[in-house]
Amino acid sequence: MKLEDLRREYTGHGLSRRDLDPDPLQQLRAWLAQAIDAGLVDPTAMVLASVGPDGRPSQRVVLLKDADARGLTFYTNLESRKARELLAHPRASALFPWLGLCRQVSVEGRIEAVPEAEADRYFASRPRDSQLAAWASPQSRPLASRRALDAAFAEQAARFAGRPVPRPPFWGGLRLVPERYEFWQGRENRLHDRFVYEKDGAGRWRIQRLAP
Ligand SMILES: Cc1cc2nc3c(=O)[nH]c(=O)nc-3n(C[C@H](O)[C@H](O)[C@H](O)COP(=O)(O)O)c2cc1C
Repeated sequence: MKLEDLRREYTGHGLSRRDLDPDPLQQLRAWLAQAIDAGLVDPTAMVLASVGPDGRPSQRVVLLKDADARGLTFYTNLESRKARELLAHPRASALFPWLGLCRQVSVEGRIEAVPEAEADRYFASRPRDSQLAAWASPQSRPLASRRALDAAFAEQAARFAGRPVPRPPFWGGLRLVPERYEFWQGRENRLHDRFVYEKDGAGRWRIQRLAP
């Protein structure tokens, strides 16, 4: 199999300016709803990029947990590589790869911390085993073995037996506050539709079509 021979035709319905909501958040929410309705795997998964102190980018998948006027919210270990990088250099980009719909959306912006009370509320809604895992895993740090991780999980399960698991102080939410969105719809013959939203000086969203 030669990778260079793997290709497919992208045949999404066209995207024209009159289809677009003037508010990119509403446009994102509409496409997210369509990704969910279409039964795509992990429709809320987004590839999140951060930049380290040496200027090196890195990426990973996180799940979008809220999308409102304040921004795009996700949760993570605040001592992880991504969180350390994003808190030190609070700019990020996130990409939703909705390939089953021949679509991608990328969002760029600033990073803000989610208030503690909001993180508490979300943490309390998670399955208990996920809560225990948050305590057990020193995310992004070297681990001696799988056995050590399983032992840490069992230790936390014993520690919190019979009572609610509180949110670890090192676990919380981050919010990507969008400054730029791009909506990409695949079309025939690689003549895709791309629209960028950017804020003008008066804070209004301006929409521009880009060449594919
Ligand atoms: C589908 C999927 C969803 C994920 N969701 C999250 C998430 O919401 N939060 C999180 O911290 N890690 C999530 N992860 C794990 C991250 O991709 C990553 O491995 C982890 O956060 C450590 O990243 P870092 O070392 O770059 O900080 C997810 C991974 C996948 C594949």
